[in-house]
Amino acid sequence: MKLERILPFARHLLEKAISHGSVAIDATVGNGHDTIFLAELVGDTGKVFGFDIQEAALTTCKEKLLAKNLQGRVELFHKGHEHANSCIPFAYHGKVAGAVFNLGYLPGGDKSIVTMPETTIRAVERIFDMMAPEGIIVLVIYHGHPEGKTEKDKLLQFLETVEQEKAHILRYEFMNQKNSPPFIIAMEKR
Ligand SMILES: C[S@@+](CC[C@H](N)C(=O)[O-])C[C@H]1O[C@@H](n2cnc3c(N)ncnc32)[C@H](O)[C@@H]1O
Repeated sequence: MKLERILPFARHLLEKAISHGSVAIDATVGNGHDTIFLAELVGDTGKVFGFDIQEAALTTCKEKLLAKNLQGRVELFHKGHEHANSCIPFAYHGKVAGAVFNLGYLPGGDKSIVTMPETTIRAVERIFDMMAPEGIIVLVIYHGHPEGKTEKDKLLQFLETVEQEKAHILRYEFMNQKNSPPFIIAMEKR
């Protein structure tokens, strides 16, 4: 048996929570890899909502969706994920099966545009409110860059205060790797 690495493990968690007909959120669309993955999981009867503050990221993602003919099941917002609750129609609130945050900067993009602790925490709170019972939020936390370390610290402080009656929160990470590798937090609504 091989231990699962970080990104495959994040996907494994999402696969368990999301199936055909589900509603899912990609909170950080970036180059669209997770959006495509979610769009395939929800099938043609499901729905994915995606957020990014960079137009270029959304354009890349749209091209990928079109190439795979998945555009009909995905709605992209050129907005911060902290606005998720006002962007996503009320009919979907309480029905979200899975959400993913891939934090940090856009690979191959402007490294000065990064996710920020306050907006990330606000988005986690708001998206958590929209989750279905047993819905899962997966956070992939990159803390190798200076802002990432601050974001990690603040996010962990916040997550430690979430009452255990509301959510199961678990962490999966390498313990013996150099250079601050990314790790995963998974939050399951109770
Ligand atoms: C690590 S990248 C995401 C990678 C992406 N999941 C992929 O498959 O390529 C992080 C993304 O978060 C975006 N971002 C930064 N702040 C944001 C915010 N407040 N709301 C939504 N997206 C944000 C950045 O523009 C960047 O594209």
